Amino acid sequence: MDFVLIDALVVIFISIIIIWIMWSAVIGAGFEPTSRDLVTKMLEMAEIGPDDVLYDLGSGDGRIVIEAVKSYGARAVGIEADPIRVLWSRIVLFFYGIQDKSQIKWGNFFNQDIVDATAVTLFLGGKTNQRLKEKLIKELKPGTVVVSYIWKFHGWTPVEINYTDKIYLYKIGTSNV
Ligand SMILES: C[S@@+](CC[C@H](N)C(=O)[O-])C[C@H]1O[C@@H](n2cnc3c(N)ncnc32)[C@H](O)[C@@H]1O
Repeated sequence: MDFVLIDALVVIFISIIIIWIMWSAVIGAGFEPTSRDLVTKMLEMAEIGPDDVLYDLGSGDGRIVIEAVKSYGARAVGIEADPIRVLWSRIVLFFYGIQDKSQIKWGNFFNQDIVDATAVTLFLGGKTNQRLKEKLIKELKPGTVVVSYIWKFHGWTPVEINYTDKIYLYKIGTSNV
């Protein structure tokens, strides 16, 4: 009887771990960090500066948020569904002492307000980008730059492309007209 109970607990525990790992992939994209030099290339392409408010949709370990604040003086917000990565990136922000200029929100970016963004970065997936188009058009101001690594927004015209690294830069009001 005890063995049956232990087996059941092990199965429940493993199921929770599998669902936890799969959940982000189900609602948007799995975790795969952008390399440091590509983070720099994305932020350079977006011409991020101290007047910017950058949102990284699916911020992972927070590397884009951290770099935007530390090296470019921007304000930055990450939105991440995975609670462990949220916790990790909040700890890193704390140790860098940049919490006054940055924030990591825990949640699904489809349900979060991004109206104050002047720049948005993403490394997600083709289908997720397509699903995001309506939200980006609805909430972002004309002139806001959207930089996507690897994945395009089909039907939109990038204003700049880094073909080697597959980085696509769109501008709201220009790319989607
Ligand atoms: C490919 S990783 C990119 C991480 C980071 N932006 C980078 O470039 O290193 C995608 C991240 O998006 C998160 N994610 C996927 N769908 C999401 C959603 N709907 N809401 C919030 N986070 C999501 C995943 O948990 C994962 O950490």
